[in-house]
Amino acid sequence: MKRIKLFGLISLGIIIYSCSGENTKSNHVDNNIAELDGEELMKKNCLICHGNGTSHDDILAPPMRGVKNHYLTDEMTEEEFVNAILNWTNNPSEENAKMPGAVNRFGVMPKQQFEEQEVKAIAVYMYNNEMPKPVWFEQHMKEKHGENGFIIEGLELDNGEKWKANAETTEGINNMIALTADFPENPTIEDYQNLGLSLEEEKQYILNQCTMNGVAHDNLHSYLLPLIRRINGLKEVESIQKGAKIFNYIKKHLNAYNDYFE
Ligand code: HEC
Repeated sequence: MKRIKLFGLISLGIIIYSCSGENTKSNHVDNNIAELDGEELMKKNCLICHGNGTSHDDILAPPMRGVKNHYLTDEMTEEEFVNAILNWTNNPSEENAKMPGAVNRFGVMPKQQFEEQEVKAIAVYMYNNEMPKPVWFEQHMKEKHGENGFIIEGLELDNGEKWKANAETTEGINNMIALTADFPENPTIEDYQNLGLSLEEEKQYILNQCTMNGVAHDNLHSYLLPLIRRINGLKEVESIQKGAKIFNYIKKHLNAYNDYFE
């Protein structure tokens, strides 16, 4: 039923699109997009599928709030976010998907002809504005992403319950939390790099001691990957500003451990 609805919408979209006579693509992709109304364009082009619905069972695609949550990480600039959205709309595919759960449920987003400028305007609007929250959102988030709704790609609660982690993993994470708590107030670049090295040791300890397996292990893996990426970044960081950004992200990421594991 959902698929039929979706197919209908797409066919309708194609008909409207082909009849509008506006499908000559502009070569000037970097025209000023300030004149375009991102909110209106989003309503017209995206919300037909990405609307909020009245219940979680009644939607054709994840609402834009969820999409933004999965795409926007703390240290992303507007440009990086816009490019990420653009990359997706240009080439929606299973391999590119950051929302594998959504792909599983709805199938991959159908590829459509969007004007690049319009998608840019939509993405700029998304970056700078809070996306409306569906009425069912909070409950759903709690079941999937815990009390604080800190989203990590590929990581979901075990049917609303926390995963059981082995004691050494929890110990390693707690050591990391202690390291970040015990950090100078006005750090130098070397402070950040040294913190990266100390966190690296704890990470190695966790990896060496891990006895988890199966789905719990996969979820731990999803949890650790972005952390490891940031630790590597911190070890080699070359500006205080970037160091501070990575540091803030790492602190939040570490705090989220207790939302997902016990
Ligand atoms: C015909 C329905 C439809 C329309 C119209 C649509 N989408 Fe989607 N979109 C989907 C579905 C279904 C998914 C979930 C499956 C997936 O992730 O591929 C999705 C997922 C996404 C994702 C997450 C992809 C991922 O998994 O990483 C982004 C980003 C996105 N859409 C952006 C947009 C934008 C921006 C627009 C408007 C310009 C738009 N979509 C219009 C159906 C649609």
